[in-house]
Amino acid sequence: MDYFFITGSSKGLGKALTELLLTDKNNFVYGISRTNNINHEQFQHLKIDLADLDTVKQFQFPKLKNATSITLINNAGIVGDIKYLGNLDCDKIISTYNLNLITPTLLTNQLLKAYNNGVKKLVLNISSGAGRNPIDGWSVYCATKAGLDMLSLVFKEEINNKSLNVTVLSLAPGIIDTSMQEVIRKADEANFSNIERFIEYKKNGDLADPTSTAKLIAKFISDKTLQEKTICSVRDIS
Ligand SMILES: NC(=O)c1ccc[n+]([C@@H]2O[C@H](COP(=O)([O-])OP(=O)(O)OC[C@H]3O[C@@H](n4cnc5c(N)ncnc54)[C@H](OP(=O)(O)O)[C@@H]3O)[C@@H](O)[C@H]2O)c1
Repeated sequence: MDYFFITGSSKGLGKALTELLLTDKNNFVYGISRTNNINHEQFQHLKIDLADLDTVKQFQFPKLKNATSITLINNAGIVGDIKYLGNLDCDKIISTYNLNLITPTLLTNQLLKAYNNGVKKLVLNISSGAGRNPIDGWSVYCATKAGLDMLSLVFKEEINNKSLNVTVLSLAPGIIDTSMQEVIRKADEANFSNIERFIEYKKNGDLADPTSTAKLIAKFISDKTLQEKTICSVRDIS
């Protein structure tokens, strides 16, 4: 059985990925989010607020029967407050870092401790072009995604040094028509000079639908040649 842990499985990209993986009888998916609307015999929901670090610290990965591979997809993320530094709410800064960067670090660490065996593993971090290019009003979001990229690069060094049977990817999924984009379009222009560009993406039909993006991401999960570059993007193949 191939096991998957997907954070943010209730909506958007995480839900589309979960539904796609559930079409294969050999997969079992644990979906981690605060809400759930998926009901399937190969699926189990784990209700966790991933911005609450005490809860995340206590989370224990379950025992897995006959595992042939174990994949952690750190997908849950929020854009957070779209405002310039100096105007941000302290608690929102902290919860965005927690969800987008600290929780993926904790889960990766715990996954490696829990399954300290030879079973093939993949850690797939859902990053963003925003971690690679600065966008005003998104300081925290950009920093968390840049942090995910660097976390992945260091992890890759460690995997190589120890010859571990583990792969790590930090994958930018492109722009997708999800609730995150709705939040972006509602931002205040005074705090976000790029707002028109994001409104145009939606108007012009430039946002990918989550299922199409999930299909591209599935190629990175199954195709060894797409796993050679740690920092990657769906644009590498689309
Ligand atoms: N959409 C884009 O254009 C785009 C572009 C680049 C990168 N990304 C990245 O893609 C990933 C998925 O984004 P999306 O667009 O699919 O977002 P989305 O539709 O808003 O979905 C976010 C998911 O994260 C979960 N989540 C949010 N806060 C949580 C919390 N405190 N605890 C547990 N789960 C939480 C939500 O579940 P609950 O509300 O049920 O908890 C939901 O399932 C993110 O990492 C995002 O940064 C998206």
